[in-house]
Amino acid sequence: MRFTPFPKLESHRIFLRRIRELDLNEILFLRSDKTVNTYIERSEDRKTKNLADALKFIKELDDCIETETSIAWGISLKNNPKLIGSICLWNFSKNHKVAEVGYDLNPEFHNKGLMSEALKAVVAFGFYKLHLDKIEAFTHTDNKRSKNLLEKNGFILNKNRRDADNPFNIIYELENPKANKL
Ligand SMILES: CC(C)(COP(=O)(O)OP(=O)(O)OC[C@H]1O[C@@H](n2cnc3c(N)ncnc32)[C@H](O)[C@@H]1OP(=O)(O)O)[C@@H](O)C(=O)NCCC(=O)NCCS
Repeated sequence: MRFTPFPKLESHRIFLRRIRELDLNEILFLRSDKTVNTYIERSEDRKTKNLADALKFIKELDDCIETETSIAWGISLKNNPKLIGSICLWNFSKNHKVAEVGYDLNPEFHNKGLMSEALKAVVAFGFYKLHLDKIEAFTHTDNKRSKNLLEKNGFILNKNRRDADNPFNIIYELENPKANKL
């Protein structure tokens, strides 16, 4: 599993590219805006309250890429490099066969199908480049937009699983159709 050189992705309307220090203000916005974070729970030490916290977070993303523990892409429209959202693969299983996907998008850009585009690109990367067997998504049971996104992209709710850390979360799964089924 190698994230260097950084695997830039693209789809019809968007680029998925590395998040840089230049994206500081947009990262602060995405991680602190009330609408974006309605259903996202973070412990006090994981909250991004100011530019210094945002910088620290971007440095953590860099560290994760170096150590190959997780990868986050910034989402930009093809005609404007400004960051409008992010999507990541993280929480890889020990054997690197399962990962979790996470995402957020500036509300100005909701309801345009842009996160669906990003998710398709990241799922394809996860299955065909990282050879994951499964991608999971933990989402708040009231997060209709997130559930809609996942269901439209083939993720299936696993009613038998619970998130030990958050009783309000439900867990969706997407199996790699090419995974070895023994
Ligand atoms: C979750 C989140 C990314 C979903 O964003 P979104 O814009 O609703 O997602 P999509 O990209 O799937 O857009 C889908 C909508 O765009 C519409 N759309 C408009 N133009 C479109 C186009 N050209 N192509 C496809 N869909 C289009 C679709 O009709 C669809 O709405 P519908 O399913 O009600 O018909 C967003 O709500 C968000 O950032 N939430 C806050 C962060 C968050 O909660 N993250 C999850 C943590 S687990």
